[in-house]
Amino acid sequence: MTTKPAAWTSLVIKLVLLFSFQNTINVSFSVENVDITDGKLIMRNDLWLFGYGSLIWKADFPFVERMKAYILGWSRRFYQGSTDHRGVPNKPGRVVTLTKALNSQCWGLAYKLPAGTVEQTLHSLDYRERGGYQRLEIDLFLDTNECVRGLTYFADEANANFLGAEETSNIANQIINSRGPSGDNIEYVLRLEKALEALSVQDTHVRDIANAVRYLKS
Ligand code: SIN
Repeated sequence: MTTKPAAWTSLVIKLVLLFSFQNTINVSFSVENVDITDGKLIMRNDLWLFGYGSLIWKADFPFVERMKAYILGWSRRFYQGSTDHRGVPNKPGRVVTLTKALNSQCWGLAYKLPAGTVEQTLHSLDYRERGGYQRLEIDLFLDTNECVRGLTYFADEANANFLGAEETSNIANQIINSRGPSGDNIEYVLRLEKALEALSVQDTHVRDIANAVRYLKS
């Protein structure tokens, strides 16, 4: 069977778009999983997204399923400086990121993004998380005991806003004195604590920071 010239052209366009798309998304997609509509790549498959910070309580994107999930080998830590949400450039707040921790589990929420909305959602999330986060392809362990490949956003030492480890009381002190366009930094901590409680997730780091914040405020 011979392939028609139009089919070849479409395949070449798809490959070129797929190549540039993969360079920006950090996730491998095969040619069979994407379509071209109006010159844009549209994924045929859903995509799992893992949230462990504000993405737990603020899901401003479409999803078809949401469930408790964890990732392995990472811990949630208030090590990322926030200059665009919970602080300002000369007075950054602190928000959570992931740090590598052997055998550790980080619990959060997994969202199934429906095919066709994935590009738009990732585009919006790239903007929301632009203060130093990058996409990371990762295995998610769902509450259903399934393991699926998905994406999360994390910020490492390489980004300019990274602050790293500090005494709990110093982190709490910075938090109670910071605010930014998305509101008070303290609100981020207390919302995260509440959201984790609602999921019955124990996170000693988040609990210690929240307790220290309450103590300093009292
Ligand atoms: C996340 O929630 O998964 C990323 C960090 C944040 O936006 O708070």
